[in-house]
Amino acid sequence: MEPLVSKHTSQKVRKAVFPVGGLGTRFLPATKSMPKEMLPIVDMPLIHYAFEEARAAGIEQFIFVTGRNKHAIEDHFDHAYELQTQLTAKNKAKELKQTSDWLPEAGNVSFTRQQEPRGLGHAVWCARHLIGDEPFAVILADDMVFTKKGCMTQMVEAQKKSGGNVLGVMDVPREKTSSYGIVDIDKKAKSKDARLVKAKGLVEKPAPEDAPSTLSIIGRYILQPEIFGILDKQKPGAGGEIQLTDAIAKMIKTDDVFGYRFDGVRYDCGSLVGFVAANVAYALDRKEITGTMTKELQGVFKRAGIKL
Ligand code: G1P
Repeated sequence: MEPLVSKHTSQKVRKAVFPVGGLGTRFLPATKSMPKEMLPIVDMPLIHYAFEEARAAGIEQFIFVTGRNKHAIEDHFDHAYELQTQLTAKNKAKELKQTSDWLPEAGNVSFTRQQEPRGLGHAVWCARHLIGDEPFAVILADDMVFTKKGCMTQMVEAQKKSGGNVLGVMDVPREKTSSYGIVDIDKKAKSKDARLVKAKGLVEKPAPEDAPSTLSIIGRYILQPEIFGILDKQKPGAGGEIQLTDAIAKMIKTDDVFGYRFDGVRYDCGSLVGFVAANVAYALDRKEITGTMTKELQGVFKRAGIKL
């Protein structure tokens, strides 16, 4: 029986790609002049959580694939001198730290533009020259995973042992498969790591009756650089877009592709309900406001006549 270890030698994952070119139309009018990735969960933008998750996983270089009207993201990862001067003058040390203490070292943040919205595969392909010839991570900021050990850290640890490509996966209700990339599981492959499954195929957004399983790709990937050669020639797929899932599916012929059932709760912050739920969950997790927040929420439910 085939073991779950890729032939591909495992090399450190140092770079992460953040595709942030999307329009965020589900959040209009909030996103009319502000990138959706800058929407806050409590007091930190979505993209900042994604960045921190990558950094905690050992990522050293951060590559943002942007689009028009995304300047706020570039500014977020830079000094804000006027603000910092004012905070210094007012002795606001804590606030000052929040503006810049976490900034990555100069030169470790890059921005490239996806000039046309041609899909996730195309967005990742736009980062090819910045990645070069090494494995890399992809993080979709609107998929948040609430967990103690970051989702990407878990995946990097798993990938160190397995090699190959690793995708963050979780089961979704069958009626939801048409919103996700779905894994066709190789049931013959045996794994020591109960969270790791081998893929024999991937399908982007299949109808429930056509889905090979309910195991869905969530916005976390560790990919080998060979993906770029495939993306070079990738034709549009579901929704008329160049799909990352389709390109990864082709890689299965030459390298291993694994799904990693991460530990944690995923919030779909690309949807209104997921976004608001994440705000509640992250607020309740903040010790200094857990008590007051709980009381506020109890009041909200009571006034709305909702019994929990
Ligand atoms: C993208 C991917 C899809 C994946 C999903 C996770 O779809 O194409 O395979 O399952 O992210 O959120 P999107 O949500 O951008 O349509």
